[in-house]
Amino acid sequence: MAFAEYPVQSLMYITNRPELVFTEGKGSWLTDHNGKRYLDFVQGWAVNALGHSNEGMIQALETQARKLLNPSPAFYNEPMLKLGRQLTDNSCFDKVFFANSGAEANEGAIKLARKWGRKHKNGAFEIITMDHSFHGRTLATMSASGKAGWDTIFAPQVPGFPKADLNDLASVEKLITDKTVGIMLEPVQGEGGVIPATREFMQGLRALADKHKLLLIVDEVQTGCGRCGTLFAYELSGVEPDIMTLGKGIGGGVPLSALLCKAEVASFEAGDQGGTYNGNPLMTAVGSAVIEQLTAPGFLDDVKAKGQYLREQLLALSAEFGLGGERGEGLLRALVLDKDIGPQIVEEAREMAPRGLLLNSPRPSLLRFMPALNVTREEIDQMIGMLRTLLKKLA
Ligand SMILES: Cc1ncc(COP(=O)(O)O)c(C=O)c1O
Repeated sequence: MAFAEYPVQSLMYITNRPELVFTEGKGSWLTDHNGKRYLDFVQGWAVNALGHSNEGMIQALETQARKLLNPSPAFYNEPMLKLGRQLTDNSCFDKVFFANSGAEANEGAIKLARKWGRKHKNGAFEIITMDHSFHGRTLATMSASGKAGWDTIFAPQVPGFPKADLNDLASVEKLITDKTVGIMLEPVQGEGGVIPATREFMQGLRALADKHKLLLIVDEVQTGCGRCGTLFAYELSGVEPDIMTLGKGIGGGVPLSALLCKAEVASFEAGDQGGTYNGNPLMTAVGSAVIEQLTAPGFLDDVKAKGQYLREQLLALSAEFGLGGERGEGLLRALVLDKDIGPQIVEEAREMAPRGLLLNSPRPSLLRFMPALNVTREEIDQMIGMLRTLLKKLA
């Protein structure tokens, strides 16, 4: 079908989209309405942890769809209980609440911290967040985010989110008052430009939180579920947070997210938290299939090894073209360009023939790579080859 025949005018405008309709996907490859194939190093923005149409996920969907779709969130169901147990068994947390999106999980984390502050800290409610952070698109999570312009776009903001600088402990300490209940950050700022929080910073935050009786909250919507080479990125810093949120990778492409906390922080009372689809068996069955594959022996070692391989290839490209190096953790990486040519590279990569390449440029001078965690070394080589061709052309 030709693009002009699709009823695109029925959709509300929210962003500029290319004139493509994707019709199929398998592993690291997507196919558009013309039959052209694309090597996908975006994967729904670090969402499809196991690539497109993963067999384990399909099986979980098919089996669960025939068994039970929705008994109501007021009742227990088997997949919800299984996935809850998988997450507590494989993390430092004791309690899980399931939701549908990263923003919703973060909204829950903010509510949980405020509830805990009301019960245990004289009504303290402020959560220190980081400049350039990204926590979602609801009003509270936009207010928590440190994205330029987001303080005014839907003003007035939800109050209570003073901003510190990532990797600057003094900037955090300066903001602590008797109103502070927690500190919230992404272990690697994703949308902000793939900037890892240092091990020293994370350990310093833990010490500050302990000293002032604050909750350390990690937003692992992008970094969690194997993306950084460990099941959760907080493991890289050797600290245990009090609250963690997951999204994206946990559903491997279906809408699922989670809010986790230590037992002593779980302070919701009946009616405080909920949502029609929380713990929906179809989504949690898929999440369970995803976690099963991520925790299979050797899987995360392989992610680490491929992250290192991608790093080496990006460093080689950087040296070859005199670029600014690379950074990241595991399979969440960025190449620092010498000019603001990121958006142009993204467009030309997509338009390459006979096969296109899908990349992302969260800042004009940066390319971000978020391939499927089961991407092959051959696919990494293929991506690097295509990128080299483009960089040569633009040099
Ligand atoms: C760190 C982080 N938190 C929260 C979100 C919001 O997740 P969602 O779009 O599922 O609401 C994102 C999405 O990019 C994210 O990267």
